[in-house]
Amino acid sequence: MAIRNIVKIGDDVLRKVCRTQLTFDDKLATILDDMAETMYKAEGVGLAAPQVGVLRRFCVVDVGDGLIELINPVIVEKSGSQTGSEGCLSIPERFEDVTRPMSVTVRAQNRKGENIVISAEGFKARAFCHEIDHLDGVLYIDRVDKK
Ligand code: CO
Repeated sequence: MAIRNIVKIGDDVLRKVCRTQLTFDDKLATILDDMAETMYKAEGVGLAAPQVGVLRRFCVVDVGDGLIELINPVIVEKSGSQTGSEGCLSIPERFEDVTRPMSVTVRAQNRKGENIVISAEGFKARAFCHEIDHLDGVLYIDRVDKK
């Protein structure tokens, strides 16, 4: 495993729409392992592929209850709403209030290409929304609540 460089705001790579991940091979596993290691080292709770310069639709999340890998994730259900402080490893030392769904259900694939469905509430739902936004070139600062 290896620590990867985290792309910072201002780099165009963060604004691209990522492509579907079609292969589930050792190369994907290596990138996912590196992303998890990079996220933990940076003390983040999520990291999306474009943040390490890979324009593919996958991300890792760990809000403290275990590592989740989401490949080609799609939010298929959302309900409620929550407003809270959000940050991003690509936007250092900045936190702002963002309103997100209170709960979401995500359909995705795991690193083997198997279909998975995960529901999350609260902070984990927020993390899922934030990371999936990255795959469409959307940053949380685009969604900051208007004061
Ligand atoms: Co982010």
